[in-house]
Amino acid sequence: MTEPLDAVAAIHNAFRRDMEGIDAAAFDSARGKPGLAPIVERFRFFNEVLVWHAKGEELGIFPALEAAVPSVAEAYERDHRALDVAFDALSAAVSAHDALETARATAAFKSHLDLHLDEEDAHLYRLVSERVPVPDQGKAVGIMSSTVPQERFVEVVAWIFPLMGHNDRENMTRIWQLVLPPPVFNRAKQLIQEAIGDDWAELTRRIPTGSCPQPSLLGPWLGIPQWVVLKRRLPSVRWWWILISAFGWGIQFPGMIPGLMLTRLLRQLGVPSCQ
Ligand SMILES: [Fe+2]
Repeated sequence: MTEPLDAVAAIHNAFRRDMEGIDAAAFDSARGKPGLAPIVERFRFFNEVLVWHAKGEELGIFPALEAAVPSVAEAYERDHRALDVAFDALSAAVSAHDALETARATAAFKSHLDLHLDEEDAHLYRLVSERVPVPDQGKAVGIMSSTVPQERFVEVVAWIFPLMGHNDRENMTRIWQLVLPPPVFNRAKQLIQEAIGDDWAELTRRIPTGSCPQPSLLGPWLGIPQWVVLKRRLPSVRWWWILISAFGWGIQFPGMIPGLMLTRLLRQLGVPSCQ
């Protein structure tokens, strides 16, 4: 069953894979192998995504964890600042056209990145999974994903999908299928297909993306923060929004009609939360 935190694991794996290729290219360049500069140059977009991701963790995940388990996240926030420094050192080395210094900088960056991501996966996100209430997990992941600029979404899809394995692609696509409005998800499907080429057949074998959305635990998780926001403006939006969210965005708006009817019925039956 796909869960919101699966998206974080998928992004972490993409970071590892990209940095592995960048570091290998920098090392081979330092040994005199030609033609690898475009691969090393990937570090610029890599770091843009890394900064969006770190900012998202600091705005969404870390405060949620702090409320449940104090004083854990601060060390990971310091790690983020150290990764900023690693990027500055790498950027300076590349600008100076110093192949040896560039290789040293990518090795240092990779070492720090791998350690940080491994510790987050094994420690920080385990605590999030175990100690942060499920509705707050969904809300935190929603805040985290909002830090990616919408106008860069096309580039992010083209970057991340080729870097992911089949399982991570499946998890990410299932999550997007549930959280994105249908027109946006349809566009995302086109971008994914362009990004992964022949692997599209495997993804559609795992997820028949043209089919109706299936109920899953992810839907209500994401429905809770949506409900928190919606009820401020639309008092008539009640708990049934979360129930309907179990079936995903695909039927959420048409699903409001049976939801309203259900609420009216429960009012007639005198259920207190529907009064
Ligand atoms: Fe992090």
